Amino acid sequence: MKHMRLALRFIFPLAVALGLIAYGLLPLVDALTLKWFVRDLDIRSGFIASTMQEPLSELIHSHSTLGINRFFERATQDERLFALGFCDNQNKLSYKSSTFPKQLTCNLPFYLDESTSHVLRQQQGPLHFAIHPIMAENVTLGRLVLVHDMSFVDRRSSDTKQYVFYLFIALATVISLITVVIAHFSQRGLVNGMRALLHGEGLLKPLVRVSTPELLPVARELRSLVRELEQDRRIKDEGQMDWTPKTLKTILNEDLVGDEVLIVSNREPYIHVRKDSGIEIQVPASGLVTALEPIMRACSGTWIAHGSGSADREVVDERDHLRVPPNDPSYQIRRVWLTSKEEAGYYYGFSNEGLWPLCHIAHTRPTFRTSDWQQYVAVNKKFAEVVIEESKTDDPVILVQDYHLALVPKMIREKLPQATVITFWHIPWPNPEAFGICPWREEILAGLLGSSIMGFHTKFHCNNFIDTVDRFLEARLDRESSTVSFGGKLTAVRNYPISIEWPSRWLKNAKSIAECRSYVSHLNHLSSDRFIGVGVDRLDYTKGIIERFLAVERLLELYPQWVGRFTFIQIAAPSRSSIVEYQNFDLQVRALAEKINQRFRMDGYEAICLKVEHHEPNQVFEYYRSANVCMVTSLHDGMNLVAKEFAAAREDERGVLILSQFTGASRELPEALVVNPYNIDQCAVALHIALTMPESEQRDRMRSMRGLIQEFNVYRWAGRMLIDAARMRQRQRLMGRIQSTDSSSQEGRLH
Ligand code: G6P
Repeated sequence: MKHMRLALRFIFPLAVALGLIAYGLLPLVDALTLKWFVRDLDIRSGFIASTMQEPLSELIHSHSTLGINRFFERATQDERLFALGFCDNQNKLSYKSSTFPKQLTCNLPFYLDESTSHVLRQQQGPLHFAIHPIMAENVTLGRLVLVHDMSFVDRRSSDTKQYVFYLFIALATVISLITVVIAHFSQRGLVNGMRALLHGEGLLKPLVRVSTPELLPVARELRSLVRELEQDRRIKDEGQMDWTPKTLKTILNEDLVGDEVLIVSNREPYIHVRKDSGIEIQVPASGLVTALEPIMRACSGTWIAHGSGSADREVVDERDHLRVPPNDPSYQIRRVWLTSKEEAGYYYGFSNEGLWPLCHIAHTRPTFRTSDWQQYVAVNKKFAEVVIEESKTDDPVILVQDYHLALVPKMIREKLPQATVITFWHIPWPNPEAFGICPWREEILAGLLGSSIMGFHTKFHCNNFIDTVDRFLEARLDRESSTVSFGGKLTAVRNYPISIEWPSRWLKNAKSIAECRSYVSHLNHLSSDRFIGVGVDRLDYTKGIIERFLAVERLLELYPQWVGRFTFIQIAAPSRSSIVEYQNFDLQVRALAEKINQRFRMDGYEAICLKVEHHEPNQVFEYYRSANVCMVTSLHDGMNLVAKEFAAAREDERGVLILSQFTGASRELPEALVVNPYNIDQCAVALHIALTMPESEQRDRMRSMRGLIQEFNVYRWAGRMLIDAARMRQRQRLMGRIQSTDSSSQEGRLH
């Protein structure tokens, strides 16, 4: 059957070619060659006539019949010129060569048509006739008739036909053979074509109908491709989704079905602290924890983090696991233990005296010590090993968090090449000049480029990162698609602006706004009509707390009507207190608050109420809800979630946010009073504007900010990353399948 088909593939084009030759081509060759030769003979006749013009007119003048006849006889000795005749003005054939055809007379109608030619077919072969006038001193003496023998045309035409015939037979044979070969290899050709398409070399047109059995594997491949594309379409359009914990679960169940999700960060979401009264559970003041905790509740995965609490070891199981949240367990923490030497070098040293000031342009000099770097490398290795140990599959989705773990992505990649590693850098990424002072810049960059996706809050930080890679590594960059190819591995660099959960769980059982206000006033010994400003930060030099206090002082100077009527409450969570810079900063902040309070103190009035102590999120929310104004004056901040939390806390749509232009949040919340924290006068005026802002304007601004945060909440932040991871995995699986088909078809060819 197969051979029959092959034979048919050969015979069919051959038969078509022969038919074409017989019925169309040969008559065409005849007609064409005749046309060409007639044109040649026309030219030839014209040339002979003009050459004969003068001697013939002289002979006619001398009435020499004999001379003319001889002249004609001599001329017709030419191989082609068959006969000559002369018709006078009375249409009489006065002179002619002996060969002149008898059937021709001067009265034939075509003779009247001068300078034209005709072909007369007769038994001996075709004859060509041309008529040219013979003139003497502008007087027409008659017409010369030139007759050419055209039998050579027939001879040449049959030669040409023969050549054309053989040429077409040869061509038809070659075409037939090519057809058979192409048909034979078409299956492989199509497969390769599809592969080329999938590698982005062309556009995919999956509407291919395949009916021959050889092409069935291609059909199967196409069908699976179509399935993949359909699934890809099913991966939601994030803009049209309502982002809730349920949405995240749906993504996990549908797009990352069966995939393991692990988070690894330095800071843990719950810290167990030993107190006199027993073990206390604290939620640390960390933007990272604020954002990731709701995600983990939705994903039910494993969160690997440093066990830093004094009672942390007491509450874990034998594998260092602990189910949280304490009152409604839905995911597990895996604690990693660090020695005090490791913590000093890795956390306090390299992370917080080196990378933290390096990435925040806040005029605190970074300190880099080789011993800290060594601990940083060792602890990153420790975290990577725990991640690998916790992974039950060889291709988990791993969310690596922040600057403490920059080397972990590469370390994971080396052990779990199939894993999808999404690294999020929660702090700013500086320009290449600033980053370049880090002695281990290449190692940090290479470590991060082990990630499948590298995330930052803003596009600006993504660009800084790409520029830094460009400056210090031999990597291939594609700025159009924002990807970096380094060491044969591709990393997508994306911006995902982080956010908070919406609605906040801290509002669920919260006191009313009025209750919060009277509670906070009472707690801080403020009269009920006191205007309240709040600031909520870790006690960190990047947060602009000094500048904020100076602005409060300036407000009271510029607008003394606020003295006694406005108090600023600063919640400052103690942070990284082993670091000298932080200790100095603590002293400076306390001293400045005291100085300002002394200056304006009267009748128990304090301008600034500084609370350097840990507050649980529900307490922080009470402050947000009681404030007339919230100040976020960071000197440099990746995003700053306090700004978003303040807006989330205000369902009453009251209160004004003053926001530093150097935070990522200021790009999303332009309805805040956006200030330059270094400009103290501007901040003081902003405070005055905020405290006197009409309620309707407060409502308009607050409503707009709340709308944006609701829409771009933390589920969307995580969801976007997970969707991107799902797409990447889908593509990877497809490529894997195609490559395996490729290698098996190669094997097939070898056998
Ligand atoms: C920033 C960092 C987080 C860190 C948080 C608190 O937000 O991006 O990674 O957890 O500060 O700092 P701490 O050193 O107490 O974890």
